[in-house]
Parts: sequence; C-alpha cells; structure tokens
Amino acid sequence: MALWAGRFSKEIDAGVNAFNSSIAFDARMYRHDIQGSIAHATMLGDCGIISKEDSKTIIEGLTAILADLDSGKLEFDPNAEDIHMFVEAELTKRYGDVGKRLHTSRSRNDQVALDLRLYLRDEIKEIRGLVEKLCAVLVKLAEQHTETVLPGYTHLQRAQPVTFAHHLLAYVQMLLRDLGRLDDTAKRMNECPLGSGALAGTTYHIDREETAKLLGFDAPMANSLDGVSDRDYCIELANTLSIIMMHLSRFSEEIILWCSWEFKFIELDDAFATGSSIMPQKKNPDITELIRGKTARVYGDLQTLLTMMKGLPLAYNKDMQEDKEAIFDAVDNVKLCLETFTPMLETMRVLKDNMRAAAAKGFINATDCADYLVKKGMPFRDAYKISGTLVAECISRGLTLETLPLEEYQKMTPLFTEDVYDAISLETCVRGRVSQGGPSPKAVAEQLRLVKTKLGLA
Ligand code: ARG
Repeated sequence: MALWAGRFSKEIDAGVNAFNSSIAFDARMYRHDIQGSIAHATMLGDCGIISKEDSKTIIEGLTAILADLDSGKLEFDPNAEDIHMFVEAELTKRYGDVGKRLHTSRSRNDQVALDLRLYLRDEIKEIRGLVEKLCAVLVKLAEQHTETVLPGYTHLQRAQPVTFAHHLLAYVQMLLRDLGRLDDTAKRMNECPLGSGALAGTTYHIDREETAKLLGFDAPMANSLDGVSDRDYCIELANTLSIIMMHLSRFSEEIILWCSWEFKFIELDDAFATGSSIMPQKKNPDITELIRGKTARVYGDLQTLLTMMKGLPLAYNKDMQEDKEAIFDAVDNVKLCLETFTPMLETMRVLKDNMRAAAAKGFINATDCADYLVKKGMPFRDAYKISGTLVAECISRGLTLETLPLEEYQKMTPLFTEDVYDAISLETCVRGRVSQGGPSPKAVAEQLRLVKTKLGLA
C-alpha cells in the first residue's frame, strides 16, 4: 500500500511506479539520509514536538538500519519510490507508531535537498583530496625537471624554449584554481534546507539552528521556497567539475601527442597503456583518450542540470529528481579520471633527450637571436627582421642558427660577434628567461616554492 492510500482509491500502476522511482540511483545517499533524519529526530525531541523517548527510539532505530545497510543485512527494496520512503518504511516496520512520528514537520522536498547537499559536501572533500594528490605528483615531477629543456609551442608550432618543470607547473596553477572553485562551491552550498518543509515551512516550533548546527552547516537557508527548490549548488559543482575535466583533457591531449612517434617525449608505463588486437607494435594511450571523451560527458551533465532547471516555477517539481543522475555521473567520472590519471603520470618515463632534440630544431632561439642585437643597441623591429632572414637562410641551407657560420651573421650586421653562439644556445635561452613566472630554473624554483606553500607541501 502506498503512503497516500487515504487519498487514492487504487494502487499505482506498476510501470508508473518503476518510472517514478528513484531508489535505483538515490539509494547511494542512504547514509546522508539517515544522518539528516537523526538530526531531525534529535531536534524534534529537544523541542518537545515528539517525546524524548520516541526521539531516542527513532535515533536508535535509524542507527540500527544504517548498520544493517552497511553490512548488507538489509537490502534496498527496488519497489520503494525513493531512499527517503524506504528508510521511513523500514523504521515503521521495525517500530510501528514511533517510526511514523519521524516525518513530523518535514517533507521529502526539504529532505532530498538536505541529503544531496550532505552527499555532495563529502564528495567535494574527496575530489579535493584527489586534485591535491595530482598536484603533489606534478610538483615532484617538476622538481626533477627544472633543467629539462623542451620546446614551448604556440599554434602547435615550436615557439620558444621552456622546461618540463615549467610546463608541468602550468597545470598545477590550473589545478590550484580548481581547488579554489571547489572550496567556493562547498562554502556557498553549506546552508541547511531542512525545516523548509514542502515549501512553506511548518507550524511546529522547530529549531532550524539546531539541525543546521548538528549537520555541520553554517546556517539554515533563509527562505523555505528557495530551500526546497535551489539546485544552484549542483550546477556550480558540475561547472567546477567541467573545468577540472577541461584541464585534464588538455593535459591528456598533450600526453597523447607526446606518446606518438612524432614527439616521443614520454613513454607510459606498460601498466597504464593498452595494445592492439591486430597491430603487434601498438602501445596506445587509452586512459588519456578516455579522459578526453569523458570530458564531453561531464559537460553534458552540466547542460542537463542547467536545462532541467531553466523553466521550473517555484518551488519543488519532480523534474528535479533528474538532478541526481547528472551530478552523480559528473562526480563519479571526475573521481575515476583523477584516480587513473595521477598514477599514470607518476609512472611514466620522461624522455629528456627527445625533448632536448626537438628543442634543438625549429629555430626556437630566433627571438633570442633578435634580442642579442637589441641588447647591442638595435631597435627590436630591425633585429626581428634580421633574425627572420637568418632563419630563412638556415632553412634553405639545411642549417640551424647554431651551425650557421659567423660570416653569414656578420653579412647582416657587424654587431654579431663570436659570442652570438653562446647567446642563442638553448641553455642560455632558458636560463635567461628570468622574468617572474618564466621558465628559467631560478624563476621556476620560486614558482615551486609558492606552489608548495599553497599545497602545504613545503
Ligand atoms: N525522489 C524525489 C527527488 O529525488 C524526492 C522528493 C520527492 N518529493 C515529492 N514531492 N515527490 O526529488
């Protein structure tokens, strides 16, 4: 019999029940549902809305149900409409009338809003930890490669020399901002919707401050209509997660390129790559491709949430049940990606020599060649033109700026002397980039110091 059998004269159609039910995906919030109910029952007892004795029984009953669900002794009923109804029905099954008192002055609308906040608050903490772990691995790798020169690219054309440490730390900066966004989201969503009732609060003299405090919220939400119908926090989190995925996806794209024979800057550990069913020579970077692919799916989750909310009048509407699968999918996939990506990076082999060889080709010291003349007094535009002409000369003769004879330089301007070769050597070019935030080992050391302080690794 459905809970609302009083109003209804028929049982719900089996197909409709299955269609309507959310237990298949909201069962995962059972711990948070029970946590919320325990706080609610505590408050009801403290406020004299139910007797202290009933409050105690309900709390003991909920604690026992939690233990039975944890141990697998109690199984979810797939026919229950949702996790909230399931737990309440189980309590009533065990304790009769006492169990029936739990839902006094509460609705599933404020209950589900509460459960989802509690659940996502925990997930954010976990994701935060995974992002920090990835940062720590990148920092460690960066510390080993402050002198490892590789070409920096723009338009995927070799541009100017950087170091591998500098390149990795660019991702750490992105991830630090992601951590900030996770914190912002967690902070803003940390208000308690419980006590909003179905939409219009309640006539009981409940203590919303107490439940908010018991559940670790900063405050109760200020408006009951907003309390039951706000899903901003899901959207904000999905947005934050989409940005994390975008960062992982860009990094993945680079790993994919670096694994190719065209680059060969890194070699993935065998445990983190796959072979081909037909081509015996293959070693594929599947993990990174899958991360790139899953990024699309997390963006999709964000779109689902935004679109689901856009036409909803106040307050609760059943459309909002769709929030869970979308945000759970985003959370699950971000965690999966981070859990796989980090050890993959930790175990990959960095092929320094190939990076160095790539840096030696592609005239990435042409800017430095121009700067050499500027430092001898020539205006930059003129120096830029001379350097470009020398590059064209090298290309036509199959030379590099390092191997072009001094006479060729001097034909352009007598400002060139023997020391030009030192000025354009890759080592000088990297070491000279001392500007704050630049790739020189000195600037990178400072960046590492700041990053480590932020991450608590110092
Ligand atoms: N399963 C529902 C959800 O996920 C819980 C709230 C149901 N409230 C209601 N009035 N039907 O949104």
